[in-house]
Amino acid sequence: MGAHKVLVVGGGGREHSLCLALTNSVMVAELYCAPGNAGTASIANNVDISPTDVEAVVEFCIDSNIDMVVVGPEAPLCKSLADRLIQANIACFGPVAELAELEGSKLHAKQVMSEVGVPTAGFKILNNADQIDIALDDFSENPWVVKRDVLAGGKGVLVTKDRSEAKDFITDAINSDGKVLLEEFLPGQEASMLVVMDGSGFVCLPPSQDHKRAFDGDLGPNTGGMGAYCPAPIVTKSVHEKVISRIVRPMFEHLSKMTIPYRGVLYVGLMITESGDPNVVEFNVRFGDPECQITLPLIKTDLFTILHSASMDKLSSLDVEFHNAHALTIVLASEGYPYQPIKGRIVRGISNELANIGLECSWVNHAGTKLVENKIIANGGRVLSCSAMSKSLSGAATLAYELIETITLEGGHYRSDIGGQILSVNR
Ligand code: AMP
Ligand code: GLY
Repeated sequence: MGAHKVLVVGGGGREHSLCLALTNSVMVAELYCAPGNAGTASIANNVDISPTDVEAVVEFCIDSNIDMVVVGPEAPLCKSLADRLIQANIACFGPVAELAELEGSKLHAKQVMSEVGVPTAGFKILNNADQIDIALDDFSENPWVVKRDVLAGGKGVLVTKDRSEAKDFITDAINSDGKVLLEEFLPGQEASMLVVMDGSGFVCLPPSQDHKRAFDGDLGPNTGGMGAYCPAPIVTKSVHEKVISRIVRPMFEHLSKMTIPYRGVLYVGLMITESGDPNVVEFNVRFGDPECQITLPLIKTDLFTILHSASMDKLSSLDVEFHNAHALTIVLASEGYPYQPIKGRIVRGISNELANIGLECSWVNHAGTKLVENKIIANGGRVLSCSAMSKSLSGAATLAYELIETITLEGGHYRSDIGGQILSVNR
């Protein structure tokens, strides 16, 4: 017990929540986070290494005898961090680069979905300016959905009814990437399903719902996510069964056959039609942010054991249990987010950084924060999120909103309607 030295790679809210859960594990003796943030600084040893400096991460792990790495963001996975750690005999939670292409390339993800028969939107590849007008005509019944085929840090997708905006985005993408995807618009409600997977099996975590637009009422620009709640009632028992039989199981069968099977979390971004049929909007090869912050607290089973088992293809021998509770998180963003967030301002009022894991509690998940002379400074677009857990979704919303009201950041903004679609309340 308690013998493991674990490194969490990344420095956002997702990584703070991973550290909070891992620090509660009796299996973890020493916890490191690279580069971490002001929140991880108080529960782990922050290491000043960039997540995408793969060789530096591997060297640190070898020098410090790290025996398990949990990779938060996708970029290091696409740059072969898992491959390099496996070569160095270090357990890694996160897939090898070949499989991380499910997120790294939208076209690759579409090809895999077509091969294994997973439902998703139809699409067309454009690689020449002459094709644009005809393609826009072909897809003109609904808003146009345009997707770049590169990792674009959440800025690679445009959904618009404005033809000239679509045309400009397509032209720029063809010029910079050589090609772009024009995708059929899928109407419906979105949900996120995080599936822990290895060569032996998979475990679906409770589904959640993110709020991607910056402002109340789903207005404003797309962001990385302004808040989320879990579980999401849109994923009924019948929808859940369809997600498993039509999407998760075929993907597992495909990914477990690989030379090195998928070992990590497969984020299935879903669009659920009015008739309850799920379609895949996107795959990510990591925990969602902020979905992670409200999904992990609902897991009763020790998180280290789950992640370590998955890195060893031993997931199928585990019985993963969940709390019968609800969690909700509200993101506090810097002024100017998502376009040009103003950094460097002091965040005041954070009092309960440590999650009191148990029902009816609230806590702060740090994201873009850093400690400067004992002050917490906003160091990113999404600065922190206030999270809560309760027996009911409305209880979690009340606790999380009570907490965020105690925190001040000049110009900071947050949505007042997280979970509102379900709760029918607008604060
Ligand atoms: P993605 O990065 O592929 O998840 O796309 C970002 C957001 O764009 C999604 O969360 C959806 O809100 C929206 N979106 C993406 N693809 C579609 C689609 N085919 N139909 C409708 N909305 C979409
Ligand atoms: N919250 C959306 C994502 O992590 O991609």
